[in-house]
Amino acid sequence: MAIEEYEIQPLFAEPFFRTNISKAIGEEEIAYIKNLKTVPNKANLISDNLYIFEEPELVDVKAAVQEVLDFYASEVMGITQELYVTQSWALVNHPNTGMHGHSHSNSIISGSLYYCELPTPGSSMVFDRHKSYQQLQFIIEKEKQNIYNTPLNIITPKSGEVFLFSSGLQHFVENNTASKARYSIAFNTFIRGTIGELRDVSQLTL
Ligand SMILES: [Fe+2]
Repeated sequence: MAIEEYEIQPLFAEPFFRTNISKAIGEEEIAYIKNLKTVPNKANLISDNLYIFEEPELVDVKAAVQEVLDFYASEVMGITQELYVTQSWALVNHPNTGMHGHSHSNSIISGSLYYCELPTPGSSMVFDRHKSYQQLQFIIEKEKQNIYNTPLNIITPKSGEVFLFSSGLQHFVENNTASKARYSIAFNTFIRGTIGELRDVSQLTL
């Protein structure tokens, strides 16, 4: 019997959020971040300072990111608690370097900020459905790929954009094939407020 009528619906979906905050980032801030001391981080470079949003020079950038987090908590997560930045750091991917696959522990939502001009061709951020060993590894036919079976989601940033995504998602950054360095900021967040229910004895104030 040929199946002619059927229906598929997503039971749950994973949000990926992006918005542009370039208006909140000035030349002085760009120069300050680019000049931060960096140390080796496997293939790329990471700032020695891992709390850069606590620096007075970046107070306006931090406020703009906080506005995005407030919007995300309210409009995407639909919660009344506050998301706030925990650690924040700068990254430099020189030509021919990318960023190994990883996810962000002890964080709820992670983000990246492309605070200055990005080189061309751009290198994308790649989200991987799988985090580790796959007991069953299916090869998906290209023309049959869809949101239910795709192994990867590839997202190319634009200058001035902030990305927000669930911290548990495995991701990596493609090799920088441009002749100039690719600069970005990354950050983690946690939640402030009370979650759970008093009478369920699940209440937790953070
Ligand atoms: Fe990351």
